[in-house]
Amino acid sequence: MDTQQRQARPQTAYDPDTPEALVEFMSGGWSERPLAARAHPQLARLRERREALSRAYPGAYLLVPSGAERVRANDTFFRFRTATEFAYLMGDGEPGAMLVLEPHAGGHRSLLFAREHNRGRAEFFTDRVHGELWVGRHRGVDESQLYYGVDACRPLSAIPAYLEELGRSGAAVRRSDEDAELAEYLSEMRLIKDAYELAELRKACEITKRGFEDAIRAMRRAKTEREIEAAFWSRARIEANDVGYLTIAASGEHACTLHWNRNDGAMRSDALLLLDAGVECDSLYTADVTRTLPIGGRFTAAQRVVYDLVWEAQRAGIEAVRPGNDFLEPNRRAMRVLAKGLIDLGILSGSLDEALDPQRQYYRRYTLHNVSHMLGLDVHDCAKARAQEYRHGRLREGMVLTVEPGLYFQPDDETVPAEFRGIGVRIEDDVVVAAAGAENLSAILPSKAGAVEDWIAEVWSTA
Ligand code: GLY
Ligand code: MN
Ligand code: MN
Repeated sequence: MDTQQRQARPQTAYDPDTPEALVEFMSGGWSERPLAARAHPQLARLRERREALSRAYPGAYLLVPSGAERVRANDTFFRFRTATEFAYLMGDGEPGAMLVLEPHAGGHRSLLFAREHNRGRAEFFTDRVHGELWVGRHRGVDESQLYYGVDACRPLSAIPAYLEELGRSGAAVRRSDEDAELAEYLSEMRLIKDAYELAELRKACEITKRGFEDAIRAMRRAKTEREIEAAFWSRARIEANDVGYLTIAASGEHACTLHWNRNDGAMRSDALLLLDAGVECDSLYTADVTRTLPIGGRFTAAQRVVYDLVWEAQRAGIEAVRPGNDFLEPNRRAMRVLAKGLIDLGILSGSLDEALDPQRQYYRRYTLHNVSHMLGLDVHDCAKARAQEYRHGRLREGMVLTVEPGLYFQPDDETVPAEFRGIGVRIEDDVVVAAAGAENLSAILPSKAGAVEDWIAEVWSTA
């Protein structure tokens, strides 16, 4: 044990001083307990991705960090989530790690910096952030080399000297968290999902369905939106890693606030509950599903009018999900249905063409957002892809996107008949662009109004 390690300084105002003798005592007397070393189950696929990245950047050093723990307050942290770029290339990661693809023999060799074990050193029991006695064992250097199938693995402590040397060498270096072009490339790599990714997304939707059923069960007696959020989150933690984004549990007029996640409102049996929630698997692939549910089990006539219109719009949008259509086509189709419905309800005046006139777009007062984004490791996946590949690109087989039209009638909107004010409806599904058209992964959650009422009744009958 070197001098620096002996100095076991307290990290916080409330940590005790640690006498050197205790450091010495704690450093020995531990039996060998090797981790079961194994390769990542998806290693072949992960290697292919790293090789594709290597081919795209000949001669450059490519640095992909796993990300750091984010401070919640002082010395407490949020649960760590691996940076998406690292997860895509490595499967998963521990905080502070870094993948380096080093130019080598016309391609690249892979080098990983991973946190070393610290048992036998003072930090083992004095470092509340990295000490293995505090936070559990790290994967370690040797185990990481095998698990990630990299050509070499070195301890994290070697990173500063490595980067300094790299800086001095004048080599071309690109870092995924600093280099916009590399981030863009990594985003675009993820636009097309492979069979494993589709299976994970399917699983995320299946667990999400069970989470919605837990929420429906809770809805029967829940006094506040928090109980709905808690019911869903419980399923996400029991069967998977987490929720893929903050759950939106919006009852009544809260549904008109798009990202309502305060979830502190009251539940009323004559109101709707807009529940936008998705389970994130251990692999970090996430679902993103919205259902708008009558809290009392039955839609009122006014709620049903709005609901059916959004449902029709969503159906039109999903029908437009097919290879070769442009990304915005589902949006165009859905907005056409909504705009026509708004005219029929007397909320918009004039012809449909006038309503859709790009110079006015008045329908957007009630629709508020477009209907699609890519879905995958991130809920808003591939967000750094270039517009020509994403927003202004064409749908290609293997893409996964949401279709999520909504209508939101604010409670104080004088352009809306009184009976509709305070009603917000969104219906959101996760759809694969398949050769034959759309494959709706979340269709396992009922969405037609009558089917939603039947679903609630069925869940309640077994509660
Ligand atoms: N839950 C966020 C979204 O639907 O995009
Ligand atoms: Mn969404
Ligand atoms: Mn959503």
